[in-house]
Amino acid sequence: MGIKYELIKECKQSGARLGKIYTPHGVIETPIFMPVGTQATVKTMTKEELEEIHSQIILSNTYHLYLRPGHELIKKAGGLHKFMNWDKPILTDSGGFQVFSLGDLRKITEEGVEFRSHIDGSKHFISPEKAVEIQTALGSDIMMAFDECAPYPADREYVKNSLERTTRWAKRCKEAHWNTEKQSLFGIIQGGMYNDLRKISAEQIIELDFPGYAVGGLSVGEPKPLMYEVLDHTTPLMPKDKPRYLMGVGSPDALIEGVIRGIDMFDCVLPTRIGRNGTAMTSHGKVIIKNAKHTESFEPLDVECGCYTCKNYSRAYLRHLFKADEILGLRLLTYHNLYFLLKLMEEMRQAIREDRLLDYRKSFYEKYGLK
Ligand code: GUN
Ligand code: ZN
Repeated sequence: MGIKYELIKECKQSGARLGKIYTPHGVIETPIFMPVGTQATVKTMTKEELEEIHSQIILSNTYHLYLRPGHELIKKAGGLHKFMNWDKPILTDSGGFQVFSLGDLRKITEEGVEFRSHIDGSKHFISPEKAVEIQTALGSDIMMAFDECAPYPADREYVKNSLERTTRWAKRCKEAHWNTEKQSLFGIIQGGMYNDLRKISAEQIIELDFPGYAVGGLSVGEPKPLMYEVLDHTTPLMPKDKPRYLMGVGSPDALIEGVIRGIDMFDCVLPTRIGRNGTAMTSHGKVIIKNAKHTESFEPLDVECGCYTCKNYSRAYLRHLFKADEILGLRLLTYHNLYFLLKLMEEMRQAIREDRLLDYRKSFYEKYGLK
């Protein structure tokens, strides 16, 4: 019924865990990074390319698909998997975060959120029940509760009210969720940067008994050390026998720090977004491909990378593609960045197996140019 998490082993050097999530569309080895396919496409990547780089699960967004092309149309197509030609697991975010990012275009009440479409300005309303209805029509393997992600900074009183509303909304999501055989609903812990509020939120959300839990409301502009401190206080409160998902995190250092603190799942637009901007993540740090110093570099982006881009193309060629606004450049950097992060996750899984994740972090940071 729904997903099942198997805890395979805990790292003796850190809080990291090796696990498996069994879903109706296959098994995911954790810790894992989920490439983001906001609009039912991981930008520039075909299904075959996603498979080549060993994407085990991708994420898509309720808010965007509800507005365009509409969840009813996707349901008619046979669900999101069939619509986008992806037969491995899919997680959908609830729209909470996206709607809250709209700023002036939205109004929050106890009932839900009224907002104007970023596409045509039309008025819409998403409630916890509606978020579940949309995600049910999409047919994702894992759906997320409709939550409120407090901005940073936000005062205590605001965050307290917001986390309590998030709990009431999580309960309403659970009550509205009926397709439990095929789809699992995860709860989201909020509480901003206040450790005591994180504890209250964790207790309330865990009390509702979800098959998995996310930590939301992080990576919203706070300094990284603060995010790590909040995680230090939050992950120990989360059940060991359920997957733990840190939302919106995808820089290599934050992935490593999250895994060390016991996180199993991550997603972020970072690798795909910066790839389209001409920035590559490599084992020796970031490479800005348009930089003049790459004009005559006939070396690959990353000599240690085994990806299609690095096996076939030079920095000079990639720089030329970006300078000339050629589409292939976007594709090749996106491909490399996703490959790089998925390989980082695979290397961390291997390090956990061998109880040497802290050693792995040290050597990764030294090479990447951190700490
Ligand atoms: N993505 C990144 N952060 C969040 C969050 O707090 N809530 C949701 N629903 N999605 C997110
Ligand atoms: Zn590469």
